[in-house]
Amino acid sequence: MANHFSLSNYDEAADYLRAHTHHRPTIGLILGSGLSGLAARIEDATVIPYADIPFFPVSTVAGHAGRLVIGTLAGATVCAMQGRFHYYEGYSMQQVTLPVRVMQRLGIDTLIVTNAAGGLNPSFAVGDIMLIDDHINLVGMAGANPLLGANLEEFGPRFPAANRVYTRRLRQVAEEVARDAAINLRHGVYIQLAGPNFETAAEVRMLRAWGADAVGMSTVAETMVAHHAGMNVLGFSTITNVAIDELDAEGQPTHDEVMDAGKIIVPRLTELLLGVMQRLGQGA
Ligand code: HPA
Repeated sequence: MANHFSLSNYDEAADYLRAHTHHRPTIGLILGSGLSGLAARIEDATVIPYADIPFFPVSTVAGHAGRLVIGTLAGATVCAMQGRFHYYEGYSMQQVTLPVRVMQRLGIDTLIVTNAAGGLNPSFAVGDIMLIDDHINLVGMAGANPLLGANLEEFGPRFPAANRVYTRRLRQVAEEVARDAAINLRHGVYIQLAGPNFETAAEVRMLRAWGADAVGMSTVAETMVAHHAGMNVLGFSTITNVAIDELDAEGQPTHDEVMDAGKIIVPRLTELLLGVMQRLGQGA
C-alpha cells in the first residue's frame, strides 16, 4: 500500500499554518459532531478553512464546519479542528489522520479529541460524558490502519505499542477537573467502526460482549497516529444516543438526534475542557 503523504507534504501544510498565524499552539483539539461550537471560546483566533491548507481534504458532513481555529483557550495556545475527516466519507485513513501529523510537525505535543458516540454500557444515558480509557481499533484490525505502508521514522517506530494510548496523567487531570466541577464523568472503552450506518441490534450485543462501552465512527485512527508520533492523548466521548440492542425495538438513532444531544452536552464538555487547558497551562 502506497503512502498517501510524504514527510515534506506534512511539513508543507505545517509551514502554511505557521505563515498564517502568529500563534504557536502546543495543544491540538478535535471537535466532533455537534461540538464545534466550542471553538467560539477561542480568543484572538486565526481561522483557516481546510480548503486553503495544502493536502487537507474537505469535510463533507453536516455539522462539521471544516476549518482550523488557532488561538488561546484558558491560557493555553490551541489549534482546534472544527470538524474532522471520516473514513465513511471515502477518505483513506492517511487522509483522515493527516491533520494530526501536521499538528505534530507544527510543534503540538498534546492531542485532545472529542466525539459523539452511542452508549453500549447499559449504565450510560444520553448526555453522559465518557473519558476514553482505552479503545478497540476494529477498523484498523480489519486492515484500514493509518500506520500501514512504509513507516515514517520521523514520527515513530514501525511497530508501536498501543497499550498506553490515552495518557494516564491527562486522564487524572480530567478526573480532577470533573470532580471539582461536579461533572459525573464516566469511563470506558471506545470502539471505532467504519460507518456510515448505525449498528444492527446483533452488532450492538456483539460490541458490548467485546468490552466496548461506546461506539462511534472516528477518533481511534487519530489517537493511534498521535500516539505513534509521541504525542500525549486525551479523549472524551459524548453519549448522544443509547445503542439499540433489541430487534424490532421502537425508535432508531438518527444524525439529528446526535446533533441535538451534542448541544445539551457542550456546556459541560466546555467546562471540562477549559479546566483541563487551565491545568495544562499551569504545568499539570
Ligand atoms: N453508533 C455509531 N456512531 C455513532 C453513534 C452510534 O450509535 N452515535 C453517534 N455516533
